[in-house]
Amino acid sequence: MTTLRTFALLAATVLARVEAIEAADWDAAQSSAEAALAKMSQQDKVNIVTGVGWDKGPCVGNTPAISSINYPQLCLQDGPLGIRFGTGSTAFTPGVQAASTWDTELIRQRGEFLGEEAKGCGIHVMLGPVAGALGKIPHGGRNWEGFGVDPYLAGIAMAETIEGMQSAGVQACAKHYIVNEQELNRETISSDVDDRTMHELYLWPFADAVHANVASVMCSYNKINGSWACENDHAQNGLLKKELGFKGFVVSDWNAQHTTDGSANNGMDMTMPGSDYNGNNVLWGPQLTSAINSNRVSGERVDDMAKRILTTWYLLGQDAGYPAINIDASVQGNHKENVRAVARDGIVLLKNDEGVLPLQKPGKIALVGSAAVVNPDGANACVDKGCNTGALGMGWGSGSVNYPYFVSPHDALKARAEADGATVSLHSSDQTNGVAGVASDADVAIVVITANSGEGYITVEDHAGDRNHLDPWHNGNELVKAVAAANKNTIVVVHSTGPIILEEILATEGVKAIVWAGLPSQENGNALVDILYGLASPSGKLVYSIAKSAEDYGTSVVSGGEDDFSEGLFVDYRHFDNADIEPRYEFGFGLSYTEFTYEELSVTSTVTAGPASGETIPGGAADLWETVATVTASVTNSGEVEGAEVAQLYITLPADTPSTPPKQLRGFAKLKLEPGASGVATFNLRRRDLSYWDASAAQWVVPAGEFTVSVGASSRDVRLTGSLTA
Ligand code: NOJ
Repeated sequence: MTTLRTFALLAATVLARVEAIEAADWDAAQSSAEAALAKMSQQDKVNIVTGVGWDKGPCVGNTPAISSINYPQLCLQDGPLGIRFGTGSTAFTPGVQAASTWDTELIRQRGEFLGEEAKGCGIHVMLGPVAGALGKIPHGGRNWEGFGVDPYLAGIAMAETIEGMQSAGVQACAKHYIVNEQELNRETISSDVDDRTMHELYLWPFADAVHANVASVMCSYNKINGSWACENDHAQNGLLKKELGFKGFVVSDWNAQHTTDGSANNGMDMTMPGSDYNGNNVLWGPQLTSAINSNRVSGERVDDMAKRILTTWYLLGQDAGYPAINIDASVQGNHKENVRAVARDGIVLLKNDEGVLPLQKPGKIALVGSAAVVNPDGANACVDKGCNTGALGMGWGSGSVNYPYFVSPHDALKARAEADGATVSLHSSDQTNGVAGVASDADVAIVVITANSGEGYITVEDHAGDRNHLDPWHNGNELVKAVAAANKNTIVVVHSTGPIILEEILATEGVKAIVWAGLPSQENGNALVDILYGLASPSGKLVYSIAKSAEDYGTSVVSGGEDDFSEGLFVDYRHFDNADIEPRYEFGFGLSYTEFTYEELSVTSTVTAGPASGETIPGGAADLWETVATVTASVTNSGEVEGAEVAQLYITLPADTPSTPPKQLRGFAKLKLEPGASGVATFNLRRRDLSYWDASAAQWVVPAGEFTVSVGASSRDVRLTGSLTA
């Protein structure tokens, strides 16, 4: 009986899923959209593209119902890690933590669960995932919403997330399109970026999103080469719709629309929220009607907008049996298991001297720092997480959500210690006074420090979104020094939205380990204890470099009206490698409790030099997506305990390729291995992975010559090299 019921439930879940989307599905959805369009009045069409106005509906974005075609009030809701303002939903881990796992199964499952929860709440369009900011500026306030600073990794994570979300039936929205890299002046700045950099860095993960059949794309606040993103013909019509073959709709970021005609004629398809935050300045609605009536905007263009919006609604099967909108629906299921797994497997072990970790059942533990405990006013006390009080699980802004519960480091450590008959003495403040008393007679001292950032409409402790510096907050360096002065077995735990400079901490005697715990959301303490006690070996790897000084990054927040992107392709490790600057911990780095050896590199290739060609499919020219070379390597767990290794493949283009980064990530594989066991890491290289953007020819080109293939444990820890020739 139970088995039968389980089976029936499973079958229902499977049936509710949208099968992988194919070209024929787009065709069918477009036909349905055309049929519906034929029944719509001009007023209906204007309505379907115009938000009802700020704060006038159940969701952060809403369009009115269209009764002539049984089309509902459409609900668009933040955000990238769960349901904003929801009270019955999961606070998933931020994108940056998901990326740090380098685990495509966990990332995809996170996407599926996000989609299931959104659908359960009747949300039609979920405003995520994020590939812009990409994170070229380490201080960038919203970098943590996305998947790290490498476009290849971000692209894979975008695709897995979107496919996961959309398989549950919700429309995903890839944002913020594009080159929206800082919070300071985000609504006025012009990001002036050259064509090659645009393609190889910033557009790259959006191409993955389109290839994964993303339903919608959000145009960003900034200008691109002098013209607003939401009325930029080149970005929206040229790159997105023509070059990448995007068939879904472009929705404005909230209030990112500037003109009636410019946005309509240059590729934007839906305006949100439809008014400014005072309910004024409605740029479409009646304004769009008069623009159509006076031929400033063509009827065909408005048909195209409406058709795109209808197409994705049909594509995701939202025209039949979609749940009613209820942002507070109870939808968590067992999704916290994904949160805990991502929080845990995204933890990066940076330093572990004398094998201080995993802990060997210490009897007396000191725990220090305000971030060791839940915010005394409650985990959700600050609106949109706009404070840095208590344990940190996510940054602040529209990309944050309510925690349904929150397990702090102290909660989890205390529970574990009690089970062992051990004691935890707590100093839950960042004041150094009193630290010695707690830390000096403990077997081990754990000190938790933070750095936070978020969206620019909230300023936290003087940081207006972007961080003002890359040091730990609350004098974290001094706190660590005070703990380490009292205890020679000090473990530093960092919860942070992005890199911090660790030099002072590393220079402090007594600091034996650094655990880069990132942004673990509601499972903060549980994930940490899993790693500290060796219930799992750490297996996360950095998705950005940690430099020795902030200046080493070569990029910082720009204060004028224009960012000329003069660093071009040389961002993060591409820059460190090119300028021969040694980072403290490089991109892709992470220690384990075991060790891995690499051997037997094999490379097979059929790639031919020359430009990409072929018909345009979602994501660009079809052949860009075809596998043209396969690299394999054998990885062995040569240590004592079970663990997982993220094997990484970096490609070096032929030496005479015009100015290009020394190495670029083009493959990764996470292998879970018992001690003594071996596995094969397989990297399939697509044509795009071996191409560069030839700006003068406006084409992706595989350069002729010899490519170096480097396989290893990080961007600098190369274990095997080989080559292939085009
Ligand atoms: C502005 C943010 O940039 C965007 O990410 C968000 O989806 C909208 N506000 C709606 O809250």
